[in-house]
Amino acid sequence: MCGIIGYIGKQKVVPILLEGLKQLEYRGYDSAGLSVINNGKITTIKAVGKVAELQNKIGSRDFLGNIGIAHTRWATHGKPSDKNSHPHGDCEGNIFLVHNGIIENYQELKKILQKKKHKFISETDSEILAHLIEEFNKKLDFKKSVLEALKLVRGTYGLAIINKKEPEKIIIARNGSPLILGIGKDEFIVASDASAIVRHTDKIIYLDDGEIAEITSGGFEISNIKNKIVSKEISKLDWTIEESKKGGFDHFMLKEIFEQPEVIQNGLRGRIEHFLSEDNLPILGGLRPIEKKLRKIKKIIIVACGTSYYSGLVGEYMLEEYAGIPTEVEYASEFRYRKPILNDTTAIIAISQSGETADTLAAIREAKNKGALTLGIVNVVGSTIARETDAGTHTLTGPEIGVAATKSFPTQLLVLALWTMMLGRQREMSNVMSKRISEELKNIPHLIEGILKKSKEIKKIAKKYISAKDFLYVGRKYNFPIALEGALKIKEISYVHAEGYPTGEMKHGPIALIDSNFPSIFICPKDSVYEKNISGMQEIKARGGKIIAIATEGDKEILKLADDVIYIPKTLEMLTPFISVIPLQLFAYYFGVAKGYDVDKPRNLAKSVTVE
Ligand code: M6R
Repeated sequence: MCGIIGYIGKQKVVPILLEGLKQLEYRGYDSAGLSVINNGKITTIKAVGKVAELQNKIGSRDFLGNIGIAHTRWATHGKPSDKNSHPHGDCEGNIFLVHNGIIENYQELKKILQKKKHKFISETDSEILAHLIEEFNKKLDFKKSVLEALKLVRGTYGLAIINKKEPEKIIIARNGSPLILGIGKDEFIVASDASAIVRHTDKIIYLDDGEIAEITSGGFEISNIKNKIVSKEISKLDWTIEESKKGGFDHFMLKEIFEQPEVIQNGLRGRIEHFLSEDNLPILGGLRPIEKKLRKIKKIIIVACGTSYYSGLVGEYMLEEYAGIPTEVEYASEFRYRKPILNDTTAIIAISQSGETADTLAAIREAKNKGALTLGIVNVVGSTIARETDAGTHTLTGPEIGVAATKSFPTQLLVLALWTMMLGRQREMSNVMSKRISEELKNIPHLIEGILKKSKEIKKIAKKYISAKDFLYVGRKYNFPIALEGALKIKEISYVHAEGYPTGEMKHGPIALIDSNFPSIFICPKDSVYEKNISGMQEIKARGGKIIAIATEGDKEILKLADDVIYIPKTLEMLTPFISVIPLQLFAYYFGVAKGYDVDKPRNLAKSVTVE
């Protein structure tokens, strides 16, 4: 997804912008560009492809300026090309800007501007903004021109703008697309993502929707769209540079898979590690202010996308079985256009690693409008979903750089399990049951460590199946969502066809695909649906299909049916997804690496999907 970086200070700006763009690369992009001001002149350079291409274009040219803006673009309007890359300029070459988001009424605005003789170079919606500001800048100063232009715009934006006529400043504005101001020593860094700021400073300000900031080398002023100054809190960024590095692993994805015991431990710390009372209630500070409201909740709808959606599906099983609350899970992209029946006894839970996914955010806003209680299970602190929900719990996953979600998944499951305990204890769940879940949760990091030790064995199995072009992933009950997640993982990073199905549904269609070249992956721990999974396995076997089974340690029977078995330890049925997903993540990782793909940056994908 698009990324923004801007700098104003005493240092040479180009190396800083390029470094910032590199930090943003993990978000996924297809072109990059920058504009710098030097001696009242603006130079803009753009390149399709990686930041390295941009660097090549700049070559040995030495730019002396110390104010500039830069961008990584992920195409939405118009194909990846120099013309469509940011920064975009106005007719006179005075105003240049970088934009994240979508201007919905750009066609309308373009027609008006064309009548006023503005000439457009790109196919993008973003370019409109430069011309619109130019129009107002004929009479008004830079900041007022931006404010007036933004009043006409419908859509979302994170913007950083420079202007030759007022060359000592950068103006930034936000509406629906994240923007952060980093406050360094004699310098300011603007970015759409903290990872581009972390090496400069730990003092940051999160801009809110409808806010605009004027930044010079001497300071900054933040105001709202009505030009009223707002005072903002300076937050401390607690991500270290090391956290953003690979830590000795070949890929971020592998590093993040191996971090799972640690991040789950982080999520447990202080929440169930030390119970304060005999109630066996997890300590969840973020839910405390709404505890009474939660007692009245009669229905839950979980909204999310991708991997977060699958963790929501596991949550559905947990919440219904142990908290006794009717729960539905819905793709956020569908929920936002439905006419859901919501009232003040409905809670909407948004699950999102990034906290910026446009569809999930829109779903939450829709639910809020209808009077429902909105809750967030979000990783990124200060992200839009975290801030816009009424209450919530952070997953404490740390930065997840690999585009394919891994460690964010079990940490989302952990919060769902803790919420199930809390909501369950408010209702029928016994003290004993809550204690049992918490004791087993505390053991999960250790169980995952055991599976990670089998990574070589899993690598071998992945290589054995390297010629497969299709996979069927199946599981039942708590492990049906894990089948979906396993299939998504291999699709994302290996570009092979994979389908996830509930085992029972297999005979209603997908079994027609099975032959000796179409392997099936069965997630079949010894749980309440074990026998049902075995029946499914027999059906596959009878049709000559190969089987890889994720089974419980000590299950010898499985060896009669499966061609390969990856054993996982025994735990409570509701917690099996925490551990059954690990071999599937590793399998997808080794499969993708063996195929020679860049598993951290799969083609066509972005880490944070901030457009609809
Ligand atoms: O940041 P979010 O959790 O809201 O993101 C949701 C999906 O975009 C994300 O899970 C996506 O499906 C990943 N590529 C999965 O690996």
